[in-house]
Amino acid sequence: MRKMRALAEMKCDAVLKIGNYTLPNNLIVAPMAGVTDRPFRELCLRYGAGMAVSEMMSSNPKVWNTSKSLQRMVHEGESGIRSVQIAGADPDLMAQAAQVSVENGAQIIDINMGCPAKKVNKKLAGSALLQRPDIIEQILKAVVNAVEVPVTLKTRTGWDTDNKNCVEVAKMAEQCGIQALALHGRTRACMYKGEAEYDSIRAVKQAISIPVIANGDIDSPEKAKLVLDYTGADALMIGRPAQGRPWIFNQIQHFLQTGEHLPPLPVEEVQDILIGHVQALHEFYGEFLGPRIARKHVGWYLKEHDSEGEFRRIFNAIEDAKQQIDVLRNYFYTTSI
Ligand SMILES: Cc1cc2nc3c(=O)[nH]c(=O)nc-3n(C[C@H](O)[C@H](O)[C@H](O)COP(=O)(O)O)c2cc1C
Repeated sequence: MRKMRALAEMKCDAVLKIGNYTLPNNLIVAPMAGVTDRPFRELCLRYGAGMAVSEMMSSNPKVWNTSKSLQRMVHEGESGIRSVQIAGADPDLMAQAAQVSVENGAQIIDINMGCPAKKVNKKLAGSALLQRPDIIEQILKAVVNAVEVPVTLKTRTGWDTDNKNCVEVAKMAEQCGIQALALHGRTRACMYKGEAEYDSIRAVKQAISIPVIANGDIDSPEKAKLVLDYTGADALMIGRPAQGRPWIFNQIQHFLQTGEHLPPLPVEEVQDILIGHVQALHEFYGEFLGPRIARKHVGWYLKEHDSEGEFRRIFNAIEDAKQQIDVLRNYFYTTSI
């Protein structure tokens, strides 16, 4: 037990290096399409994340001209170390997407081999690639050779429970020059069901020497410590638990360093963060799309306090940016959360 504790203490103090980049800490925001846009990433970095991976960008150049892609593609001027995720199944197109991302400001390229979405998998991209290690190898080599910056890989434990090949994929990744591997402790068949398992992450950590980043259901400081202790991973990646709670990174970091919990955030601070986030979304996406995108985030922030969804129904009917802010201010003024 004492040995385990010492290991966790060492882990949270040990710096995580990805190529030439040293992260300020070992907590990483997971890429989430439709969630981890620039405003959300900036917020997580401000509240303690060591790095935030961008939403995935398709390697298909035909979709690069859509407004959604254009907004995702520009990374110049962003805070922190800019890791940009690319998705696709064609090695040449993936190499080209990596080069374009670097031209647009990416400092690290992350390859998506974990996405379970049908839309992505039917083109053999994302986690579907786990069925084709031959193509994985071609993609990894092509991308690593195409760019000067470090390349990382994010994947799942396998296609399904009978075909868990993450150790094989991890060894291949290391041989191909991948510089860190993030592993979500579920198979593709699991989608997001059940609980993430950490035995596979532990096995991968023991099999390779590049940094291993554990991911899946790390939703509290205690869970973070448990996963670090159990897997021996070098870092943690957090996705859904940060939705509506970007300060979770500070809470986890503090607990890993001191063994103590930070006090809950004062309501005034939650209000400031939420309203600031919504304003940033209005600014980033504009007056039409901004209020629409803000709805899901507000729902996440307030889900525990508005369990009947009463406020949410009112909020979701509002289309005007300024009115959204007024209604939120009034909510905090009249409700003690
Ligand atoms: C809405 C949503 C979008 C996601 N988009 C991506 C993505 O674009 N690329 C990717 O590698 N993983 C994606 N994921 C998976 C997450 O990065 C992460 O692996 C998964 O949510 C498990 O971590 P968590 O339990 O901390 O959420 C997505 C997950 C969610 C919920």
